[in-house]
Amino acid sequence: MSAYQNQQHAVMQLRNVTKLISGKKIVDQLSFDVYPGEIVGLLGPNGAGKTTTIRMIVGLMDMSEGDVFIQGKSIRSDFTKAIRNIGAIIENPEFYPYMTGYDNLKQYQRMSEGVTEERLKTVTELVGLQDAMNKKVRAYSLGMRQRLGIAQALLHNPSLLILDEPTNGLDPAGIREMREYLKRIANEAGISILVSSHLLAEMELMCSRVVVIQEGKYVTHRTLGEPVLQEQNISISIRVDDLDRARKAAANVEQVEVVQMLVESNELVLSLMDEQIPQVVAKLGSEQVQIYRITETKQSLEDEFLKWTGGNRIA
Ligand SMILES: Nc1ncnc2c1ncn2[C@@H]1O[C@H](COP(=O)(O)OP(=O)(O)OP(=O)(O)O)[C@@H](O)[C@H]1O
Ligand SMILES: [Mg+2]
Repeated sequence: MSAYQNQQHAVMQLRNVTKLISGKKIVDQLSFDVYPGEIVGLLGPNGAGKTTTIRMIVGLMDMSEGDVFIQGKSIRSDFTKAIRNIGAIIENPEFYPYMTGYDNLKQYQRMSEGVTEERLKTVTELVGLQDAMNKKVRAYSLGMRQRLGIAQALLHNPSLLILDEPTNGLDPAGIREMREYLKRIANEAGISILVSSHLLAEMELMCSRVVVIQEGKYVTHRTLGEPVLQEQNISISIRVDDLDRARKAAANVEQVEVVQMLVESNELVLSLMDEQIPQVVAKLGSEQVQIYRITETKQSLEDEFLKWTGGNRIA
């Protein structure tokens, strides 16, 4: 946790949230925080308890134990004040297809207190639907519908947006758009986002932090985009013109291990410490090996995820 976060009040605090159904712990003593402007991914394989957790946070389901605090207000004992700070889409958002996007939001605005025309415009722009507002929702793509749902969830100016698998069913372009708009909502409007997913690659691109759960239990959390301290060897791949010559040369450098030779791509994979890289480069140079590219081959979040969750397969 960074110093910045320590100085801030958490927007949401989960404390020992537990759900028992027929004697089975669907969610088990789950605790984590969400800070201002963060996009936190609730990551777990199918059946891990993501939807159940989110349903408890927004009061759609009672907790068996624990509590959730939104801006310090308890969901259990101060629900009205706590829920005011949350905007959420749990199932697919429902709209009137024969009405325009604008009229749908307008309809919702009439039912909620204190939502101005100005606010309607702001949220429309935040999700990039300003040019589609006069189109009937029937003509919207799934991605546009999802974004209209987000606009609706943001109308009452919440400090936390909660989305359960918002990219489900979207095509790659729709997923990318969703990602960009969520980042915008967090960065420009300063709204924190809790988003669940079982897709790691997606979380990696979208979130500032992931909380990993498995069988209802907290497994680990990880801040993304920050280099992990390397106390051991790193792995690099070097693309060369002559793989054999490169291998012989590299193997001659002390404490360098040749891990793999990728014949198709002419790449040599080495395990070594940072300080040996210049030596390897010099050695290859002196052996007249041409180097075209050097890249660090990082362990992906997926590899780590499989390790955390004991190999339980994710979709
Ligand atoms: N009302 C219920 N009664 C009994 N079991 C339930 C109930 N709701 C959920 N479960 C079980 O609790 C576990 C967690 O379900 P949940 O839907 O929260 O998981 P999830 O992480 O959202 O999964 P997915 O990725 O499939 O959406 C599952 O094993 C599910 O079968
Ligand atoms: Mg779910």
